Amino acid sequence: MSAAARVKSSAMTATVPRLPATQPIETITEALLDAGAIIVTDFLDPLVLARLNAELTPHFEAAQTKPQGFINEGYAAFYGPYVRHVLAVAEKSNTFVDEVLCHPIYVGLGQAILGPSCKTFQLNVAHGLERGPGAAMQHLHRDEVVWPDLGPAHPHREISSVIALGDFTAEMGATLVVPGSHKWDRARKPQPDEIVAAEMSPGSAVIYLGGAIHAGGPNTSDRRRRGLHVSYTLGWLRTEENNYLAISRERVRALSPLAQTLLGFAAHDGLSMGLGYLGAVDLRDPVDLFAEGKL
Ligand SMILES: [Fe+2]
Repeated sequence: MSAAARVKSSAMTATVPRLPATQPIETITEALLDAGAIIVTDFLDPLVLARLNAELTPHFEAAQTKPQGFINEGYAAFYGPYVRHVLAVAEKSNTFVDEVLCHPIYVGLGQAILGPSCKTFQLNVAHGLERGPGAAMQHLHRDEVVWPDLGPAHPHREISSVIALGDFTAEMGATLVVPGSHKWDRARKPQPDEIVAAEMSPGSAVIYLGGAIHAGGPNTSDRRRRGLHVSYTLGWLRTEENNYLAISRERVRALSPLAQTLLGFAAHDGLSMGLGYLGAVDLRDPVDLFAEGKL
């Protein structure tokens, strides 16, 4: 029996904690560190969600299900042939930059969870995915395996999430998560009753640690499931999306210092951590140079 069939036929006895976005950031942080995956309801205001969708819809409609020259066939197989992709979201959407990238919950979680391992954390990737009817279940995975294990000194190297830009039902392939799996021995495989479909209404988000097992669910419905994957990582790690090239300098120049920093354009000053600096221009912080009109 396939993993997808086993999940579908299971009783799904595990649960994902649900917290409203109005909860204190300390409460949300504690729940995420404990469960490894949480659903934050009403993460985006309905008007913000409508603006975000309006800005992204033309890009989804123009998107190809198999981008030309996908890095290799392995990644193409991972996403499958029924998925529309929108990348470089910060270049394409003001609402993304203002209301998502700099969302106080992302900033608060980044400071609390990634902050102990870096001076500034950064966007790893923002990736719009519209998983169409027929999209198969992804293999269960941990997002953080794109980087080597950093050992106990840096236990968290990524905070991931999927924002529901439309309905997220099990039939439509809502993200499957395995609560608690961030604390497991890496060889342990989840049983069907440990896998939960993160069903949620538009504007809510499932947020999970890079070490939590999850997968895109199979879409057995006749509707497209639109989501926005947003993840953050340590300021001194290479990011999945090359934000320096995906976002134009003209665009970056116009953004706030916080947005510039979260997009990875700030220097990472590790002196107080016993390290050196990274990402300087003329030995200076690019965010200061942007402010002075020198970049
Ligand atoms: Fe993933």
